[in-house]
Amino acid sequence: MRTRVAIIGAGPAGLLLSQLLHDRGIDAVLLEARDRAYCEGRQRAGMLEQATVDVLREAGAANRLDREGLVHHGIHLRFAGRDRHIDFPSRTGGRSVTVYGQTEIVKDLIAKRVAEGARMYFDAPVTAIEGIDGDAPRVRFLRDGVEEVLECDLVAGCDGFHGVSRGAIPADVLKIHERVHPFAWLGILADVAPSTDDLIYAYNERGFALHSMRSRAVSRLYLQVDPDADLADWPDERIWAELRERLALPGWTLDEGPIRERSITPMRSFVAEPMSFGRLFLAGDAAHIVPPTGAKGLNLAMADVRVLARACEEFFLAGSRAGLDGYSDACLRRVWRAEQFSYWMTTLLHARGDADAFERRCQEAQLAYLADSDAAMATLAENYVGYTWAD
Ligand code: APR
Ligand code: PHB
Repeated sequence: MRTRVAIIGAGPAGLLLSQLLHDRGIDAVLLEARDRAYCEGRQRAGMLEQATVDVLREAGAANRLDREGLVHHGIHLRFAGRDRHIDFPSRTGGRSVTVYGQTEIVKDLIAKRVAEGARMYFDAPVTAIEGIDGDAPRVRFLRDGVEEVLECDLVAGCDGFHGVSRGAIPADVLKIHERVHPFAWLGILADVAPSTDDLIYAYNERGFALHSMRSRAVSRLYLQVDPDADLADWPDERIWAELRERLALPGWTLDEGPIRERSITPMRSFVAEPMSFGRLFLAGDAAHIVPPTGAKGLNLAMADVRVLARACEEFFLAGSRAGLDGYSDACLRRVWRAEQFSYWMTTLLHARGDADAFERRCQEAQLAYLADSDAAMATLAENYVGYTWAD
């Protein structure tokens, strides 16, 4: 089999790239290790920056997002019995964010790609990537247990944190930056109307809590737990009791409902540099991970793909390698901004068992400053909606 761009992975990054290349008339084949139902069933975050909404519209994959997405103009910061609403549009030149589950984005993109007859293979794990330092890379994969070879001009490694692409970059070239945070998030999906208009980020000595949502009838809530926490120790009543306690505010009540799904996710900050080598280009979680506190993971993946699609267009349609050569640096500037923001939000809002009184008091002072200072709120707002550079 032969194509111009071999795309590995049917997460949001790989699927969006497949769509953007198709729209530019650039032939691509997408290979995904798992089956379609698995890809469409994964629960992940769901906070979209305006630029992410825009690129999904550009890709013609935003019909349902435009109908069902919930536009949010700010967040609530809750701590010490206080609730400060931080308004975004007034601090960011009118920008806001949209809640729409990543799961739904994946379903919408897969449906569109299938309808357009894309060459997209599920149950097709890639086993090796060869020749990326030359002009004719080859991707080996399995179909029905039989090895096949996909010849191509470029390889897009969109295969997530546990994929094979990153490992194809020589070890003496690849630099890994990593922090494993000493907590995890227990996330639930509950059939109950959200008890809030905008998301609530809450700091409490017992730990962080977040009240998010998926629709007007479905709430998404998270609790900071130990990294080795076991779901078996978290029956429904314990989850709700802990959420009530951490989100507590005089005069406010948390509505409860049946819990439909639950999972525990470890928290990590991770960046692989450079994001490209020869004819291989990493995008999304294959290259970087952020802790979910800043809601940046999906947005970074979409931003990488926007840059990569444009670079592919320049390469195949205008014969210039400039975009591809500048890909890694262009992405890493945004990635490190988001890494720092996510790290800051995470340390600000989580309770550390090992923190001494000095560190705790500094954290409380930082929270109070954020709730009082317009400059501090503007910093949070411009990063949360997606920082953009003047150039
Ligand atoms: N061959 C083919 N596909 C593979 C392989 C392989 N060897 N290894 C992994 N994959 C597939 C996975 O099965 C998965 O479907 O690559 C896909 C990667 O998708 P995601 O993990 O969703 O990664 P990405 O598209 O970069 O999306 C990033 O996911 O974790 C969140 O916060 C993150 O929202 C962000 C988004
Ligand atoms: C979510 O809705 O899943 C969500 C929202 C905001 C975050 C993280 C997750 O910071």
